[in-house]
Amino acid sequence: MEAAGNAVTGGPLQPPQDEPPPGRDRLSGIQKCGGSVCSRSYFVVVMVFVHVYILNVIALLFYVYYSNGTEPGEGAGSPAPDNRAVPRPEEMAGPYTYLPRIEGIKVGHKQILELVPNKIHEMRTLSLKPLLFEIPHFLTEDECKLLIHLARLKGLQTSQILPIDGYKEAMENLDISKTDIFNLLDHNQDGQLQIKEVLTHSRLGNGRWMTPDNIREMYSAVKADPDGNGVLSLDEFKKLNLRDFHKYLGKQKVTMSDLVRNSQHTWLYQGEGAHHVLRSIRQRVIKLTHLPSEIVENSEPLQVVQYDTGGHYHAHMDSGPVFPETACAHTKLTTNETAPFETSCRYVTVLFYLNNVTGGGETAFPVADNRTYEEMSLIQNDLDLRDTRKNCDKGNLRIKPRLGTAVFWYNYLSDGKGWVGDIDEFALHGGCLVTSGTKWIANNWINVDPNKQRQLWFQQEMARLAKDDGEKQKDWAVDKSYKDMHMDL
Ligand SMILES: *[C@@H]1O[C@H](CO)[C@@H](O)[C@H](O)[C@H]1NC(C)=O
Ligand SMILES: *[C@@H]1O[C@H](CO)[C@@H](O)[C@H](O)[C@H]1NC(C)=O
Ligand SMILES: *[C@@H]1O[C@H](CO)[C@@H](O)[C@H](O)[C@H]1NC(C)=O
Repeated sequence: MEAAGNAVTGGPLQPPQDEPPPGRDRLSGIQKCGGSVCSRSYFVVVMVFVHVYILNVIALLFYVYYSNGTEPGEGAGSPAPDNRAVPRPEEMAGPYTYLPRIEGIKVGHKQILELVPNKIHEMRTLSLKPLLFEIPHFLTEDECKLLIHLARLKGLQTSQILPIDGYKEAMENLDISKTDIFNLLDHNQDGQLQIKEVLTHSRLGNGRWMTPDNIREMYSAVKADPDGNGVLSLDEFKKLNLRDFHKYLGKQKVTMSDLVRNSQHTWLYQGEGAHHVLRSIRQRVIKLTHLPSEIVENSEPLQVVQYDTGGHYHAHMDSGPVFPETACAHTKLTTNETAPFETSCRYVTVLFYLNNVTGGGETAFPVADNRTYEEMSLIQNDLDLRDTRKNCDKGNLRIKPRLGTAVFWYNYLSDGKGWVGDIDEFALHGGCLVTSGTKWIANNWINVDPNKQRQLWFQQEMARLAKDDGEKQKDWAVDKSYKDMHMDL
């Protein structure tokens, strides 16, 4: 389950503080704002269409451009984050005032862990950007089998179904000029839309993964590029009828392999009263990450995922970008804010391999430990490094699934003060095509709100609810999508 908006990957959205944000100048015309486009309520109205991907992306882009420099709210543009260790204990003012971060030292560095009595685990650093570790034999073979068994008992559901219409009407009510949209998409500001500039906005595909060939087919179907040079000029873009575009998309036969994600999954409750193996895994995760148990206990349940032969998950971020207007799915219910933009805030991902895969199914980190990150070199016109069906072998790091191994990484950088800072763009990852056999994995996400106050409030409320209820198994009421996660075992 990915919250809408997750695929809005960083790059142009998060310009460093000391450089002029790219694109503010080119948007100066819009920034002067005539009419409704600039008002705050405009953003709220547009952003509530969280499933309306294209609007979401555009609205977010607008929001970022407007807010840059004007609102130094926490989250947006925090000071240069680093991977440094946590403050010393004497700097702590109370519980949860800092989040421990395991040090990676260097790639290949090994640390010994004692996660369960009478057993020693070795943890190896796989990359520093993102901070990524591997722990073989984290789960026993029996535990892996049990998780698969429980997931099957519970029943798995298709991870992604094609988003239904809905956005057509919304699109028609949207009052942004074609020129403005064009300028937002035209990353290098050369007055033309290259195919890779269109591909960057993966949400434009409305759930379908877009390849350069798809775009070319679409152009020719809706006659978007009459001169056939493969790029759209502003003039061509203005003439493009968005309704034709939507009609074309609606008529396309889309199979599972065309989607961003092709898998089935289910959720297993891990709170008090859960199966002892699920409890034990949670305890091990607490020991592994050194994070406060209250934070881990109030995180998402365990997600078990099955990829059949032909399954994949194109490269994505597990968390959305951090802006002042972003609300975390998990803390939203305990705050009164009406959030204009909601995302899952997953500080840490712990991924468990539950079987040995016969062929393929590696976890790819296409930009791990790359010297720089530049979204536009990730996506070339004919080579998209995010495409895990085609280009897994061209990325920087690939992890072969091995039964019982856990890998874990940080999706956020530190804010330099021991809390969560900006999203770590290097954490981009995906599941490579399973070429033979079935792949089973499980995910533990540890949810932390980059807004410390909101996280603390959430912890307090959850503790209060647990007490009031008098019932041990408190509902993880945080996201409607998890409401079916309780298991009767
Ligand atoms: C939310 O609203 C309720 C009632 O209006 C109030 O009692 C509570 O303190 C508010 N919570 C926050 C976090 O503002
Ligand atoms: C999985 O693969 C590892 C390493 O290749 C091997 O040691 C282990 O026995 C395999 N486990 C099973 C259940 O096939
Ligand atoms: C990886 O780093 C190299 C060297 O800095 C750079 O040229 C390339 O664009 C980077 N790749 C991505 C996807 O950012």
